[in-house]
Amino acid sequence: MNDTFIRACGGHSVDYTPIWIMRQAGRYLPEYKKVRSKVDFLTLCKTPELAAEVTIQPLDILGVDAAILFSDILIPIEPMGLDLKFLEKEGPVLSNPVRDSKSVENLRVINPDEDVPYVLETIRILSRELSTRVPLIGFSGAPFTLATYMIEGGSSKNFMNTKKMLFQHPGLFKELIEKISNMVISYLSAQIDAGVNAVQLFDSWAGVLAPVDYEAHIFPFVKNIIKKLRSKNIPVIYFVNNCAGLLHIAKESGADVTGVDWRIDMSAVAEEVGKTTSVQGNLDPCLLFSTKEHISEAAKSVLDKASALRGHIFNLGHGILPETPVDNAKALVDRVHELSSK
Ligand code: CP3
Repeated sequence: MNDTFIRACGGHSVDYTPIWIMRQAGRYLPEYKKVRSKVDFLTLCKTPELAAEVTIQPLDILGVDAAILFSDILIPIEPMGLDLKFLEKEGPVLSNPVRDSKSVENLRVINPDEDVPYVLETIRILSRELSTRVPLIGFSGAPFTLATYMIEGGSSKNFMNTKKMLFQHPGLFKELIEKISNMVISYLSAQIDAGVNAVQLFDSWAGVLAPVDYEAHIFPFVKNIIKKLRSKNIPVIYFVNNCAGLLHIAKESGADVTGVDWRIDMSAVAEEVGKTTSVQGNLDPCLLFSTKEHISEAAKSVLDKASALRGHIFNLGHGILPETPVDNAKALVDRVHELSSK
């Protein structure tokens, strides 16, 4: 197996900088759209053979150094008791949001083997099919990010209901975050036991919090999840979107890798993180709409600034957009490999 990605996570020497792309399996690929045209998104996530097929597509098409399980961060909150739908063009909708003590109390404790067997079966298929290729990354939403979907009932602009619960009913909010955290520990442990080679915690909305609130109400739970996973001996990546104001806190998560978005320059990341963790990131996803020359220059700039880190995994600063030209994504992967090759 190509272990460049795993080595970079641990800060070990590598022959070149590994790269994978957040949301690398998705609607920018005609091959994905073909599979997706036959089934809805949730059915795709729940059909192991199809989920495994689309997981592998970006390996063949782009030549990335890691695969990420095809699923969604919202999959395990359905068996917790939320009514989950993905509406075309609108995204996720949860029709029974969690906003009072009764609904927090009613949340089910999930048993991954029984409640999300399709996720674990997809991992088992992939760990067989990828055994001679590249590592497989499992993932979960981080507690705050999952809480926002559960409380808002979907995506949000200002996260008012979430912050209302945090500031008006801090005890209830804590109870909810604790329940989600316990789910995340058992869900990721089950993924690791089924065969993933690394895990990523997606904290996509942590950056909407003031640093003091993030530190007091969220970060202790993130640290505890990562501590519990450490005994499993595989790399943990903690991705924090909009991380600039939180990085001085987030870098102490105990993860092997801190994932960063593009709104902070990689030289500032290197200065803040030092040798505390390896770093993943951080090209602006929209740079892939530019010319190949510009993409190459921007990739070189990130690589140069990241050379001070103990380990670097190249990635976009957030997910690749559906309108992205595949050719430019492929050019990015090739250029990162060429430019970083020792
Ligand atoms: O390739 C991969 O990265 C693996 C698969 C993956 C998906 N979602 C597939 C997906 C992963 C790792 C996710 C994570 C995810 N899901 C996050 C965290 C990362 C981030 O983007 O911040 C979040 C917040 C979600 C929730 C979610 N899922 C939203 C808001 C939406 C709708 C918006 C959109 O992009 O369509 C989804 C749907 C979704 N998840 C799609 C895919 C491929 C599109 C579904 C389709 O085919 O119609």
